[in-house]
Amino acid sequence: MEKLTFIGNGNMAKAMIKGLANKYEIDVLGRNEKSLEALKHELAMIEVSKIGEKLDIENKNIVLCVKPNSLDDLSLKLIGEARCVYSVLAGTKLETLKNKICATNYIRTMPNIGATYQKSMTTITGDEALKSSALEIFNCIGTTLWVKSEKELDVATAVAGSGPAFLALIAEALSDGAVNNGLSRNDANILVSGLFDGFSALIANNKPSEIKDSVMSPGGTTASGYASMEKSGVRSGMIEAINNAYAKAVLLGKN
Ligand SMILES: NC(=O)c1ccc[n+]([C@@H]2O[C@H](COP(=O)([O-])OP(=O)(O)OC[C@H]3O[C@@H](n4cnc5c(N)ncnc54)[C@H](OP(=O)(O)O)[C@@H]3O)[C@@H](O)[C@H]2O)c1
Repeated sequence: MEKLTFIGNGNMAKAMIKGLANKYEIDVLGRNEKSLEALKHELAMIEVSKIGEKLDIENKNIVLCVKPNSLDDLSLKLIGEARCVYSVLAGTKLETLKNKICATNYIRTMPNIGATYQKSMTTITGDEALKSSALEIFNCIGTTLWVKSEKELDVATAVAGSGPAFLALIAEALSDGAVNNGLSRNDANILVSGLFDGFSALIANNKPSEIKDSVMSPGGTTASGYASMEKSGVRSGMIEAINNAYAKAVLLGKN
């Protein structure tokens, strides 16, 4: 069994490890003994350890899961040359990783929190030599898309990395609309959850415009609601959200 060494044991690391622990040997390195022990309690088959003054990464397959602003501190502790670095750090460029961590090959990824249920949409780029290994790892936590450039990965960060929050706004608004018209919050949330579940199959097999056309009959309820959404600027608001999230990802990469 191949071994993956996670550095960082926060939300994203935990979500990923759950999908990977059956297929890979997992070693988790972090700085908080209590949360490491809690993770070990949850997933008995993994190994956990606290990072000391120095961290030997020689020949390891590193999955880097700390916050981007922790990279400077962490890199000062690293010794040796890793076999590969798979980074999930938002905005952090391959060039920065190369400057901070010594390794043979580097991969940059953007998973999302759907990884908790092995439903991450993960975009990946980096050294072609690691392409098949990277796809194999991240396919364990959902769907993957390999892109050729970091620019495309930054756009994907806006769409799929931040996307769960954008869709949560839509979901909450639909639920609010239902409550506004007399449904209980509980029933409204059940409806919205079922709606998203069915929509995920629809969108996997149809273009958005095809779904819309199949629901919208002339002068009907959907046409009426759809016109309100256009009038309220939902479409331009979503496009603007992607524009701004992408711009932020680019900015993070420069800092
Ligand atoms: N959450 C998402 O939806 C999402 C999506 C895509 C990508 N990402 C990326 O995933 C990465 C982690 O995000 P997260 O949401 O998992 O954050 P998080 O829950 O705050 O986890 C960060 C982890 O890194 C550890 N850490 C921080 N500095 C460290 C250091 N110097 N040495 C060792 N460990 C250190 C933290 O330890 P402590 O517990 O001691 O603080 C914590 O376990 C980020 O780079 C983010 O851009 C997140």
